[in-house]
Formats: sequence, C-alpha cells, structure tokens
Amino acid sequence: MRTWMVAGNWKMNNTIREAIDLAKGVKDGAAGIKGGEVVLAPPYTALQSVYETIKGSQVLLAAQNIYFEDKGAYTGEVSPAMLKDAGCTYVIVGHSERRKYFYETDEGVNAKAKKCLQAGLKPIICVGETEVEREKGVTEFVIGIQVKKALHGIDKLDNIVIAYEPVWAIGTGKNATPMEAEEVHRFIRNVVGDMYGEICKKIMILYGGSVTSENIGELISMEDVDGALVGGASLKIDSFLGIIRNITEKQK
Ligand code: 13P
Repeated sequence: MRTWMVAGNWKMNNTIREAIDLAKGVKDGAAGIKGGEVVLAPPYTALQSVYETIKGSQVLLAAQNIYFEDKGAYTGEVSPAMLKDAGCTYVIVGHSERRKYFYETDEGVNAKAKKCLQAGLKPIICVGETEVEREKGVTEFVIGIQVKKALHGIDKLDNIVIAYEPVWAIGTGKNATPMEAEEVHRFIRNVVGDMYGEICKKIMILYGGSVTSENIGELISMEDVDGALVGGASLKIDSFLGIIRNITEKQK
C-alpha cells in the first residue's frame, strides 16, 4: 500500500522570519495527521530555521536543489552533506524551472538523483511536458525519456519519489484534469515497471501544477496519484492545510 505525500515548494519566496511563521502554522495545523508525509521546501537561506521550527514534528524538510559534487570550488552551489547538515530529508531535483532557467539536463538530473541517494537524501525527481509537446501528442515520449534518463544506473527504487508536473500547469491556474494526470501517472508507473518490475507499485508519484484545496480531492482519488507538489498554494497556511485536510479525508 502506498501512502500519500504533500510537499510545498516555496520556490524563491519568504524571508527567514516569514518562513518560520509559515512552517510553524503548517506544523501546528498538520499535528496528529496520520498515514502520509508533509514536506516543506524553503529556499536555502531558510532551511535551517525551518528545520529548527519543525524538528520533532511529522513535517519533514526538503531542499529545492543540490549539487552533485561533495565539496570544492563551485561558487554558489550547495553540497549533499550541507543539506543533510541543515536537516533535509528530501531534495527536489530537476524542477522544470531549473531545466528552463538554469539549463539543467536529464544527465544532470540523473547525477543529482544519484548523489542524493549516496548521501542518504531522498530525491523528488520532477518530470513534465510543455504545452507545445502536449499539443503535438508527444507527452509520453518526452516523459518516458525524462524518467528513464533520470533513473539511469540507479539500481534501487527505495527512497525515490517522482513528481509529474506538466509545465503548462505550473503557476497558470490551469491544472491537469484528474484523468489527464492519471494517464501520465500510470504511464510513468509502467515505465518504472519496465525498468524495475513489480516494485513500481510502491513508488510515490506526486502531481504538481496549480494544485489547490479545491481540486486536490478529485486528483487524489485517481489510482496512481499519490499526493501533490504544491507551489503557490503552499505559501499560505490555510490553503496548504486545506490541501492536506482534503487528502486525509479521501483516505478515510
Ligand atoms: P504551482 O502550484 O504554483 O502551479 O507550482 C507547482 C510547482 O511548480 C511545484 O513544484
């Protein structure tokens, strides 16, 4: 049986003070929730303060990025050991904004995912097609390549989460319909099944892209949708808690 996960990707938002307040609100609001995981991904500057705020609760910490070397002359980058030291359990890898603005490649995503696993961090690997790719009917082709390349050379699926985030749905208010999401999630699970066999039933596949407390109920009802990677709606305590609440109600 798979559990559920809701991860808030704060992107480049929140000062340390704002981050602490938001994390405290999430921690208090999520107290006592069972059967799943709540994860917060603040910007690097607030990682440690958020960790101090949520430590000992059931809320876990994620970084939004990682570098694939251990240490050295890589100005501006942050290593796996530094993220572990700051309290991270998860790392978002290969977000479409990183692919678009910082030219991350599938090979780079693969190197980062491997490095996470070596360091005892759990990668949340993001994949997703653009609007043009969907219109051209090549969604499965694109996603298939992204998934296979991201997992290349990784022998065990334990500790890996995949997030399907259609690029056209991110920050647009235009979420994938539950059926559109389910089709791609099932496809991803099949691709993973071709690579690893039956264990593919255990991998968590999150949906991301304009998730709100209003649309999460239908999305999470889909067989292969195991949770959400939330951007905008994770920046307000009430909307983020609303998403968590609506998931837990569906699980009853
Ligand atoms: P929005 O929820 O703002 O569409 O962002 C989704 C996302 O990119 C999460 O990683």
